[in-house]
Amino acid sequence: MTTPLSEPARLRTAEPIIQLFHVSKVYAQEHRALDDVSLRIDKGEFVLLAGPSGAGKSTLLKLLVCAEPPTSGQIVVSDVSVHRMRRASVPYLRRNIGVVFQDFKLLYRRPVFDNVAFALEVLGLPRAEIRRRVTRVLHQVGLGTKLHLLPGRLSGGEQQRVAIARALVIEPAILLADEPTGNLDPALTIDILNLFLDTNIRGTTVVLATHDEAILRRYRQRTLTLEGGRLVEDSR
Ligand SMILES: Nc1ncnc2c1ncn2[C@@H]1O[C@H](COP(=O)(O)OP(=O)(O)OP(=O)(O)O)[C@@H](O)[C@H]1O
Ligand SMILES: [Mg+2]
Repeated sequence: MTTPLSEPARLRTAEPIIQLFHVSKVYAQEHRALDDVSLRIDKGEFVLLAGPSGAGKSTLLKLLVCAEPPTSGQIVVSDVSVHRMRRASVPYLRRNIGVVFQDFKLLYRRPVFDNVAFALEVLGLPRAEIRRRVTRVLHQVGLGTKLHLLPGRLSGGEQQRVAIARALVIEPAILLADEPTGNLDPALTIDILNLFLDTNIRGTTVVLATHDEAILRRYRQRTLTLEGGRLVEDSR
């Protein structure tokens, strides 16, 4: 049967990039950090992940990057089952997923420039290309004059921006950001969110975890809400 001409393009092109099937994560006995979560995020979406502290937002993002295995259920990222590709997955993840962790995970003995360049060095890019991209992204996050400082010499908000630059510099297919503006003032929060929106417009799928009500009100994006490990709302 032929596709009717009136069908919106979105319906014909929507392609899943992240899928969870009945995913649960149990850390301590009885306590379910994630409880039977099923969801689908399509290529090119910008999705907010909301919910109170302890709801399971960080856990969900950790499972997506294989930092933790699920207790049960299945996770598929870009057609690959995360469960099955655990060991072989690292290069794949480095190339395709940019992550801003809630606790930054910076290399504190290496200057800002190296922290961001490292993500490209492991991909084997030429030195001149690395310098160009790292310098550009550090300017975009407002750290153009702090390239040579050690992260310990920066404020919390500046360290957060190094983590953001490191995730953006690989121009990832998927950007996962865990409370990426938690330490930023309102003006800087808007700058960084605009940067994420630009990245999304250029094709990156963005998943942004936050419990910042101001962000949730201001950006009327699809919002997935977790509560006590359960997906209680999908605003799509
Ligand atoms: N490594 C761990 N070991 C044991 N319990 C954990 C671990 N990581 C998370 N948890 C528990 O899982 C639940 C969900 O935690 P998670 O960090 O995913 O919440 P969150 O929604 O990111 O919260 P916040 O908004 O405070 O960052 C919490 O009850 C937490 O105590
Ligand atoms: Mg968290």
